Amino acid sequence: MADRRSLQAFHPFAKLNSLLDGIAPGCAPGSEPILLSIGEPKNQPPAFVAEEITAAADTWSRYPPPHGTEAYRSACVDWLNRRFALPEGLIAEERSIQPLPGSREGLFFALLAAAQGYEGDAPPVVLIPNPFYHVYAGAAVAAGAEPVFVPATAANGFLPDFAALDTATLDRAIFCFLCSPSNPQGAAADVEALGRLIDLARRHDFVVAFDECYAEIYDRDAPAGALQAAALTGRGEVALDRVLVFHSLSKRSSAPGLRCGFAAGSADLIDGLDMALRVGGAGVPLPILAAGTRLWREESHVEANRAYYRENFAIAERLLGNRFGFRKPDGGFFLWLDVGDGEAAAVKLWREAGVRVVPGAYVSETDGSGDNPGKPYIRVALVYDARTTAEGLKRIVDVLAPGGTQAPQAATVAAGR
Ligand SMILES: Cc1ncc(COP(=O)(O)O)c(C=O)c1O
Repeated sequence: MADRRSLQAFHPFAKLNSLLDGIAPGCAPGSEPILLSIGEPKNQPPAFVAEEITAAADTWSRYPPPHGTEAYRSACVDWLNRRFALPEGLIAEERSIQPLPGSREGLFFALLAAAQGYEGDAPPVVLIPNPFYHVYAGAAVAAGAEPVFVPATAANGFLPDFAALDTATLDRAIFCFLCSPSNPQGAAADVEALGRLIDLARRHDFVVAFDECYAEIYDRDAPAGALQAAALTGRGEVALDRVLVFHSLSKRSSAPGLRCGFAAGSADLIDGLDMALRVGGAGVPLPILAAGTRLWREESHVEANRAYYRENFAIAERLLGNRFGFRKPDGGFFLWLDVGDGEAAAVKLWREAGVRVVPGAYVSETDGSGDNPGKPYIRVALVYDARTTAEGLKRIVDVLAPGGTQAPQAATVAAGR
């Protein structure tokens, strides 16, 4: 088990950098390295972002208002209502929305806020899907909590079964993360599964942070959201009890540099998050809120984004076939490929083809049963344009499955590791 006192114990890129340190990228003459390791969009946000920021330039002299602006919060509510067909009045613009510099900051501070006032003798528990986005574990460490990693493998549709944990662990839990669609596997939970987790959280009195920052990147069927499930459990604040969802413009609008997102959920959790951010957060500057307001209200650029990723996944399907357990994800822009030994494959790809990918073991942990579910995998970000994506995937096939069109690796995935 990783040292839970060390923040960087969970950082995939720190580990990747030291793995590949000193190894020269082995590109063919005249070609460049291709970095498929980082999930950073490479297409551009709409031009109106710059226009909005310029138009609001006289507000750079003001501190960011901690709770954002009414215009921004309203745009968030309207988008949530449209995207998830929520009942009118479920989300109150003032009490249920917290503007954020990004979902990462919100996820981190929400746990710090929830850990305040914990009085148990043993450290509180934070439930984390395994594999996971490193910030979940980092936040648990920062809050002095014990991360409990719950496998999300092919055997369970790549979604964690928190209900399978023992009662003592569930009773000690103060917080739980669920990423849907997930990074790295791209699995989306349906409304029923989301509802069951909300029910579990209420029975054992913990908060669930639903990380939905990939909710807008999908092929045809829009993934469900936790607020849809919450809406089925009651009205108003009753429906939102124990629930926080996190959204961001980083993926939806290809604007991770903007640092603009929001959390939505029950008023007491939003208040706690707001207070934690007032103490240690940066806030979202007014010109950014102006641009964000427009982005949440505009859909054509998001549809164009979906088309961009759709093309990349079509290329992947064509080039990978059934190798490495390839499947189109329910959402997001990652491939999660079973290559047998992810770390060895990452070194080989860099050394022989100049392709950088993340070993699955670096986004997952050895769990209580001694298993690291990410070990056989690599994570591949399909964020580049179609030409670069095709070149990167071709190099992966050439290095890891040379010759033949339907390599045998797929058989290892069918075994459901
Ligand atoms: C699963 C997941 N959650 C949250 C984030 C944070 O994104 P942002 O803070 O840009 O919204 C990321 C970023 O890559 C992510 O992969």
